[in-house]
Amino acid sequence: EKDGYAHFMLKEIHEQPAAYRRALAGRLLTGYPWVYLPELQLTAERLRQFRSVHIVACGTAYHAGLVGQTAIERWARLPVLTDVASEYRYRQPLITPETLVIVVSQSGETADTLAAMREARRQGAHVLAITNVVGSTAAREADDVLFTCAGPEISVASTKAYTTQLLVLYLFALHMACARGTLPAEEIGPIVEALGRLPEQAAALLERADDVADYAQSIAWQEHLFFIGRGADYAVAMEGSLKLKEISYIHSEAYAAGELKHGTLALIEEGTPVVALATQPELYEKTVSNIKEVIARGAQVLGIAAAGQPDLSVHAHRTLTIPDTHPMLAPALAVIPLQLLAYYASVTLGHDVDKPRNLAKSVTVE
Ligand code: M6R
Repeated sequence: EKDGYAHFMLKEIHEQPAAYRRALAGRLLTGYPWVYLPELQLTAERLRQFRSVHIVACGTAYHAGLVGQTAIERWARLPVLTDVASEYRYRQPLITPETLVIVVSQSGETADTLAAMREARRQGAHVLAITNVVGSTAAREADDVLFTCAGPEISVASTKAYTTQLLVLYLFALHMACARGTLPAEEIGPIVEALGRLPEQAAALLERADDVADYAQSIAWQEHLFFIGRGADYAVAMEGSLKLKEISYIHSEAYAAGELKHGTLALIEEGTPVVALATQPELYEKTVSNIKEVIARGAQVLGIAAAGQPDLSVHAHRTLTIPDTHPMLAPALAVIPLQLLAYYASVTLGHDVDKPRNLAKSVTVE
């Protein structure tokens, strides 16, 4: 059932191009309204009435939510609060009938996420669930559901569930932008085209898995590792860091690249590995400055850049390039080498990749 792969995680990483195709199937159009989500109860009129969006989730799904926040703010021009479900419930969230609450959950059974969702509904929010499991509690209880169509995910470490959550969040953000008239058609067309290219680009990236395996072996015995990035890259850094901790047990931290100098830079010493994401053209030069800062303190940097941008290899010790895409969509590609990094580090260290210690696939306790 692992289809010849050594672990479910590796199989699921390699299933991503197919999962992307399923998540997008029938949902992209080539003109207004651009995105087709007929399963939604939400009408265009209702979508125009919302004044704010809250995205609530746990773990990896929360990290997908952070990317979704950037897309909704940028494209649909609404303020978005993204929070982990176990915090959201207790912060007395400011919910009105003009609040759209999006819960993101692979399983649709995570206790904290369900509790947050019930609280949001009790306070009158419209709740949209983005989930992978048809018939799950989240799917049944939400006012609206969008399925991620990732297919069954067995490995505790979430991979294809995360990336398909990103895709559905992008689709929904575009859908909202169409309804609200916040994004000109000449900007939407290229995004829709770029979404359509993601499956083959993910496949191309996976063909270079050996480069990541090689890097993973070089860092597997390190005590700490840092992931840095700005904007959407910061959200991807958080996901890369969680994945590495979860299955390789290597301590790692994700930092907004510009925030390092406010404390964490003190931890960088000779040989400290730093994975620096620099896929966002607007933030490229700023991130390069941060790469120089850590290198000046002795860090060994793996840079992750997007094709079509200035050559990062003149700054970083090693570079991995992701295919050229719309900057907002870069997380759906940039995370793939980070998933592979966690996987190969775990294999190198001889850990139980699919069943990491202390963790369960579905967390049904609060
Ligand atoms: O099923 P859910 O998406 O609600 O699960 C949320 C988290 O428990 C989950 O993403 C967890 O962080 C993963 N093990 C990370 O790989």
